[in-house]
Amino acid sequence: MARFKERVFSGVQPTGNLHLGNYLGAIKRFVELQEKYECIYCVVDLHAITVAQDPVELTHNIREVTAAFIACGIDPKKQIIFNQSQVQEHAELAWIFNCIARIGWLNRMTQFKEKAGKDRENASIGLYAYPVLMAADILAYRATHVPVGEDQKQHLELARDIAQKFNSDFSERIKALGHGETFFPMTEPLISGPATRVMSLRDGTKKMSKSDASDYSRINLTDVADEIAQKIRKARTDSEPLPSDEKALEVRAEADNLVGIYAALANKTKTAVLAQFAGAQFSKFKEELTALSVEKLGPIGSEMKRLMQDTKYIDSVLANGSARARAIAAPILKSVREIVGFVQS
Ligand code: TYM
Repeated sequence: MARFKERVFSGVQPTGNLHLGNYLGAIKRFVELQEKYECIYCVVDLHAITVAQDPVELTHNIREVTAAFIACGIDPKKQIIFNQSQVQEHAELAWIFNCIARIGWLNRMTQFKEKAGKDRENASIGLYAYPVLMAADILAYRATHVPVGEDQKQHLELARDIAQKFNSDFSERIKALGHGETFFPMTEPLISGPATRVMSLRDGTKKMSKSDASDYSRINLTDVADEIAQKIRKARTDSEPLPSDEKALEVRAEADNLVGIYAALANKTKTAVLAQFAGAQFSKFKEELTALSVEKLGPIGSEMKRLMQDTKYIDSVLANGSARARAIAAPILKSVREIVGFVQS
């Protein structure tokens, strides 16, 4: 691994309703990582169209994710923020990887099964090939670290399988062309902390998601204080007071979720949160959780709204980021074409 420059890549789909799970599982971590790494954060619009999107809403949502990145604290001058469709190398590498990945590998992807549901015959080919495009996103920059929520773990394993198969299928060629033993790195997923899988506020066994029909299932990054308070007040819990040790949360999904959310927002461990609230009733804990959520999310929501008034600025961030992203991906793709054996002028 040492041979590859350390570089972080991650992406968020512009499909509306950015929520607390996206923030705690991913974007908050993106912000922390920028202190230590060169980072590339992508609004993955090509992924979004794997299910039908209204074009006007898609444009709005691309800008909104960009605004969220900036409002949460990613510095667009230091780090690269861009939208995927402006860097054609993603789609090109995805095609090459379509010819590397095996159908059997994709058939194992649980997210496709969930998203396609019963009507699998009618799902787009893009939805099926989605994880291959994800591998291309990461490897077009030879990124070494990818921060994501728990739900993306299987996709990152696939990206490693694709990198490995490319490295071994072309190993002679990679060596002959002077790239050393391997061309693509084995990317490390970064999945850690107390909120890698934030659950629905209505059902502790279901993931908090953009597409849940009930808005009460999630806290959106654009929710105002009253909405946050109301959603937390209505969040499902059990009737026991909070326990003193983490083990007791294993059989209490809703309690576990709220404690995890509090811990992540407060930058504490769940154990530390339980030490603070052991024996407390949920009414009390929910009040504290509301205050903390409003304190942390309120400024993000208002900054997002402010930024969304200035679409010129947002679009200039994306244009600038895309040019910088292209400058990294273009020479990598040039080498890939050479390795594969394409004639290029
Ligand atoms: P997306 O847009 O569904 O979600 C963006 C990020 O938020 C995380 N996340 C969660 N984390 C904790 N709890 C939850 N309930 C929750 N819901 C979502 C996701 O894990 C993700 O990190 N396929 C990706 C986007 C993508 C990507 C990439 C990521 C495309 N190319 C390359 C990394 C690298 C997705 O649909 O994320």
